[in-house]
Amino acid sequence: ETAEKGGFDHFMLKEIYEQPKAIQDTLAGRIKEDKVDLSNEISLSKEDVQQIERIHFVACGTAYHAGLVGKYVFEKLTRIPVEVDVASEYRYREPIINERTLFIAVSQSGETADTLAALREAKQRGAKVLAITNVVGSSVAREADDVIITWAGPEIAVASTKAYTSQLIAIYLLGIYFAQQLEAKNVGELKEVVAQLQKLSEKAELLLQPEQVSIVANFAREIAKHQNLFFIGRGLDYAVALEGSLKLKEISYIHSEAYAAGELKHGTLALIEENIPVLAIATQKALYEKTVSNIQEVKARGAYVLGVTITGDTELNKSVDEVIHIPKTLDLLAPVLTVIPLQLFAYYACVERGYDVDKPRNLAKSVTVE
Ligand code: G6P
Repeated sequence: ETAEKGGFDHFMLKEIYEQPKAIQDTLAGRIKEDKVDLSNEISLSKEDVQQIERIHFVACGTAYHAGLVGKYVFEKLTRIPVEVDVASEYRYREPIINERTLFIAVSQSGETADTLAALREAKQRGAKVLAITNVVGSSVAREADDVIITWAGPEIAVASTKAYTSQLIAIYLLGIYFAQQLEAKNVGELKEVVAQLQKLSEKAELLLQPEQVSIVANFAREIAKHQNLFFIGRGLDYAVALEGSLKLKEISYIHSEAYAAGELKHGTLALIEENIPVLAIATQKALYEKTVSNIQEVKARGAYVLGVTITGDTELNKSVDEVIHIPKTLDLLAPVLTVIPLQLFAYYACVERGYDVDKPRNLAKSVTVE
């Protein structure tokens, strides 16, 4: 096992560091001359794509959080309405499904019972079914009409890291591919997304440099004695906040909640008191000012705030206690980078508290019962 960990203390840490490669491997062979080409993997013709009326992302846990990012990405790039459901809820709400529905299952293992059951239901009701999975030949992969494999390699730690970032890459590729077919977006704009997508691996590497990691690790050690923590963000930052919060809960057992920053004043603000740690994400340019004003609201009530923003931002540090910078990228692509310090944060908080990083209590890597 020590050899398998390749010099890292835990599989989770190894897998966090494998993300630049997982991103690159998931992109490999799928971009040709500034365009995404999934024609070898996706059987949907241009006409089929044009017929799609609605998209349903269905998944569990971390894969569900990738689906939440998928909603923003697909609606922005394709203008097709998207719904996202946790698989254990989907079947029981009588979702509206027909042959113009595209159902996308996201599953690292491809064996999660609830996801598989939802997929079967959607297929039976006439939807076109696509799977984003990390395991070739898994049940979800076998039963879907089309499959996009995330080439993250085996993920051993229960807390998912590189599978999530690879799922995001698959979602971007698919969203861009559909947008190309739909001619819904300006060609130049799509090319820019493709160009920036190809730079993410290198930028992820920057977030794993020792100086960056030690800022996160110090904050994690600082908060490890706390029992409660809040993650806040807007838009895509909110989707990533949910994933950051899940990571922290899963392995460090610190109770945390992720909130859409604008929603704080409708209830959660009542819980903010002196010294409560808040991890505030502000990478989305269009929402930046609003998010900063929400950060000031928690700061004014005594919160201890770690801010996450884009390199070059010299404003946020005036409103927070510590700051982490994410390399510049398009707002749409920021989640791939933003999640990395949050994963490291959960990791170091867990190590500080002395829990089992790779095998958290009560949880399994793949849940094959409903
Ligand atoms: C379990 C794992 C999670 C994972 C979820 C969905 O709960 O502990 O890390 O996100 O299942 O798994 P899947 O294999 O379908 O992505």
